[in-house]
Amino acid sequence: MKIELIPLQIHGDDRGSLVSLETEKNIPFDIKRVYYLFDTKEEVVRGYHAHKALKQVAIVVRGSCRFTLDDGHERIDIVLNNPAQGLLIESFMWREMSEFSQDCVLMVLADSKYDESDYVRDYEQFKTMAKNEYS
Ligand code: TYD
Repeated sequence: MKIELIPLQIHGDDRGSLVSLETEKNIPFDIKRVYYLFDTKEEVVRGYHAHKALKQVAIVVRGSCRFTLDDGHERIDIVLNNPAQGLLIESFMWREMSEFSQDCVLMVLADSKYDESDYVRDYEQFKTMAKNEYS
């Protein structure tokens, strides 16, 4: 399993820094939805789900948090702390987010509108689905 980190160009000058997110330029899908998490309590673990079809890119625009990604066979952990880096989360990927810094702002770009029926919230069900997907 490989983790895909998308480098995001910083347009910086003596006024500060700017990162632009654009469909097909640095985001590999049509952006249909953006949401962001902030004020997450440090001891909290969020996520605990996978998506059947949804693709997302997660960017920690401030602070840091840990992402655990699991494709049903392997688990990989990565700390995101760079606003110039996007983590691509493909469909059928179980995710857990933890160790949020107090100032963490986690922004997520998604290729579809919110759809509860796209969620898989049971890990054992996810494992079974992932097994069938790959076999
Ligand atoms: P939830 O899926 O529990 O967040 P996470 O799994 O990332 O920790 O979402 C929290 C609430 O926000 C839940 O009531 C659903 C709602 N929500 C939306 O209305 N739109 C969205 O795009 C998302 C991601 C969540």
